[in-house]
Amino acid sequence: MSFGKVIEQLNTDLVKRIDKQKVPEHVAIIMDGNGRWATKKGFPRSFGHNKGVGVLKEIIKASKKLGCKVLTVYAFSTENWTRPTQEVDFLINLFSEVLKNEIDEIHQESIKIKFIGDLTPFPETLKKIISNSESLTKTNNKFLLNVCMNYGGRQEIVKVAKKLALKSSSGEIKPSEVNEELFNSELLTQGIKDPELLIRTSGEKRISNFLLWQLAYSEIYISEVLWPDFNEFEFLKAIIDYQSRNRRFGGIESLQDESYEDSECSS
Ligand code: IPE
Ligand code: IPE
Ligand code: MG
Repeated sequence: MSFGKVIEQLNTDLVKRIDKQKVPEHVAIIMDGNGRWATKKGFPRSFGHNKGVGVLKEIIKASKKLGCKVLTVYAFSTENWTRPTQEVDFLINLFSEVLKNEIDEIHQESIKIKFIGDLTPFPETLKKIISNSESLTKTNNKFLLNVCMNYGGRQEIVKVAKKLALKSSSGEIKPSEVNEELFNSELLTQGIKDPELLIRTSGEKRISNFLLWQLAYSEIYISEVLWPDFNEFEFLKAIIDYQSRNRRFGGIESLQDESYEDSECSS
């Protein structure tokens, strides 16, 4: 059996363990560890970013095949501008190149691509490619790919607060009308269900300013694997782990409920 066939078999075996009725609709990913992956191999950090692109393509395919409907990936945070100019420039150029090369296939796959974040500081060329990609794919409805670029959760929340404050001072809304639903409707992810699952690679156990509002009740899966080594197999492992979780949303399980009553009766 070829190496490729062995991998395919391993993935098929994992897929069999997945309950198709409980596949998360929306998965969010913090694709982390590109730089460390490259440095460990004695390469410049840019090698890791390049390798990470192929991984993203594999995970888009894998999640779509499994029946997920939305994938939201963190590509560049508002804090990533603090990196050396050379790395920032490399990333900006990489985003343009990848998008130019991949957009036709994305469209053929009936994937809608949406960019989330403040795109203002990016060069005009990249902004043009982004808006062309969004308009080309806007009516696709098989799968939604959200790419978070120059995205920060706090900045997003402050922006909504500002917008609602303005609407309130102009009399468009009453302060008493501000509630979760209204707030949600002004977020950049407006209209998109919150992620059921957040995956972060590279073993870091933090959110790093990602989707602060939207992740309120997401299950978190930390993979020790660095993003350039992440693959369909690791993704399926995350889904299986997610399916073993007991999502209580602050409530209690009916089983626990009964045992509580039992213990009350017996005391
Ligand atoms: C994630 O990998 C990609 C981006 C943030 C753009 P990193 O570049 O953060 O890699 P590490 O975490 O330094 O290894
Ligand atoms: C989060 O990773 C941002 C992206 C993956 C785009 P970082 O590498 O920037 O986060 P920290 O510095 O480890 O918190
Ligand atoms: Mg990192």
